[in-house]
Amino acid sequence: MNTISALAALLFLLLVIGSIEAKPRQRRDTSDKEGACPSSNSMFRCGRFVCPTVSGCKSDYDCPGAQKCCHVELYPSTPIAFRGLWCINEWDNSQQNYSRQLGQAFFYNNETFTLNFLDNIEYTWINHFISINKTDNQNTYQIFTDTSKGLLVYVNRTSCFWRRQISNNDIIWGQQSNGTCTQAFEIDNSNESIRYTRNALNCHYVDDENTNEILSNTPFENELLQFDQSLSNTKQNQIVFYGSSSIGFWSTLEKDFSHIPIDKINRGFGGSTLKQCWQQFKRIILPLEPRILILYAGENDIADEGETAINIQLNFREFISTIRRFFPLIPIAYISIKPSPSRFNKINEMNQTNHLIREDIQHMKNIHYIDIFNDLLTSNGTPRSELFISDNLHMNENGYAIWTRAVNNYLHMNGFISSSAIHCEISFFIFIFNLLAFFI
Ligand SMILES: *[C@@H]1O[C@H](CO)[C@@H](O)[C@H](O)[C@H]1NC(C)=O
Ligand SMILES: *[C@@H]1O[C@H](CO)[C@@H](O)[C@H](O)[C@H]1NC(C)=O
Ligand SMILES: *[C@@H]1O[C@H](CO)[C@@H](O)[C@H](O)[C@H]1NC(C)=O
Ligand SMILES: *[C@@H]1O[C@H](CO)[C@@H](O)[C@H](O)[C@H]1NC(C)=O
Ligand SMILES: *[C@@H]1O[C@H](CO)[C@@H](O)[C@H](O)[C@H]1NC(C)=O
Ligand SMILES: *[C@@H]1O[C@H](CO)[C@@H](O)[C@H](O)[C@H]1NC(C)=O
Ligand SMILES: *[C@@H]1O[C@H](CO)[C@@H](O)[C@H](O)[C@H]1NC(C)=O
Repeated sequence: MNTISALAALLFLLLVIGSIEAKPRQRRDTSDKEGACPSSNSMFRCGRFVCPTVSGCKSDYDCPGAQKCCHVELYPSTPIAFRGLWCINEWDNSQQNYSRQLGQAFFYNNETFTLNFLDNIEYTWINHFISINKTDNQNTYQIFTDTSKGLLVYVNRTSCFWRRQISNNDIIWGQQSNGTCTQAFEIDNSNESIRYTRNALNCHYVDDENTNEILSNTPFENELLQFDQSLSNTKQNQIVFYGSSSIGFWSTLEKDFSHIPIDKINRGFGGSTLKQCWQQFKRIILPLEPRILILYAGENDIADEGETAINIQLNFREFISTIRRFFPLIPIAYISIKPSPSRFNKINEMNQTNHLIREDIQHMKNIHYIDIFNDLLTSNGTPRSELFISDNLHMNENGYAIWTRAVNNYLHMNGFISSSAIHCEISFFIFIFNLLAFFI
């Protein structure tokens, strides 16, 4: 009897130690589905979104949608602070000012970037390089700008660079002036003529793939510039809310989703349309590499642009296909268009748009439709005005409470808010209990 008790105690001890060791590992549902992996030359690291191995998960949130993933080699990525769109400006040293824009660079998350020169300028010799030190665990990252005319300089990954923080807090980088390599970055005080900036007064952003699309001429440019500027203090791989002012006004995201241990990033802007959200996607959302993307857009297309449901549906498809080109797997949720009292005369178009988009979503992967339309209506089919602020367009906290519930529901249903950890703990103790009971 004594030996059995001692054995049981020992076993218990071992199990407890085992459980302590196992704790940092996430227990995951065995119902994981095999997820389609982005192709190996995909520009985004698979491992960010899906787990190479189940035990490799750092948290449940590393595996939204719970796909198991093929093993994909991770490669160092461009720091978030550098991603997205940059203007390449000529710096007028006498005026201490950006004088004119020469072009722009669009930095993706890997080593590649695109460059557009806006004028037919003489600076055709400018070479711009991003360099990532792959042998360095810290993934040292540099942008190289070579302004020498005539002589093309080939820069490889072991070349060295300077960095400089300029007065608007942009950080610019270049090759170390004396051409040598040192451990520390050189603080460079020379008067370079080419600079990168995100917010020069004369900055004229165009889409890197479609140069006819001017991104900086919306009425919301000031808000968008702030998003550009805040990239260096924004984390990647968080939950991102993107869309029009109903997202922008959602100031309680942090509180409303405080149970989700990741950042809630608000990227709502102005009275934006779904089309504008699509157009600004690469500039505003792509650098963030979201873990989950929640969208609200389409209402202004109808109310301000007189757009038809069919056209919004077509834009929605384009928008999703752009997102999918860069993020093949991330979970996306589309919040239905809300019936705003001030736009009651458009309610049928809004209802129809919702229906068309909902139908589309049924044929799409990892995307969900979050219905809030009916919850904002009385039984007579009129908007519940008590959920709106005095403009009869934006919602008050009671309105947002409905959205919060709906989004939470979505997050729960899709396993992004996990209760499995608790279940696992409980079943573990039941297991030990049974085991002890068996021995005693
Ligand atoms: C980086 O992105 C570019 C552009 O999509 C792609 O062509 C290239 O293969 C990517 N590089 C890596 C290492 O994935
Ligand atoms: C920079 O140039 C712009 C346009 O010429 C001018 O409006 C602005 O005042 C200048 N800023 C400084 C700091 O000189
Ligand atoms: C790249 O990383 C390796 C390994 O840490 C280091 O030896 C090398 O100096 C680094 N190169 C640069 C340019 O920082
Ligand atoms: C890389 O650049 C450095 C400095 O310019 C040079 O010394 C080295 O030979 C180059 N390495 C390769 C592989 O081209
Ligand atoms: C080049 O510049 C770096 C950084 O300022 C400095 O540490 C290094 O001594 C310089 N090398 C030469 C050969 O001047
Ligand atoms: C930079 O400074 C040097 C020396 O002061 C001067 O000769 C040169 O013209 C300046 N270059 C620019 C682009 O201002
Ligand atoms: C929205 O459209 C559906 C059918 O497409 C209809 O059943 C429903 O009554 C409509 N709702 C409103 C408020 O118009």
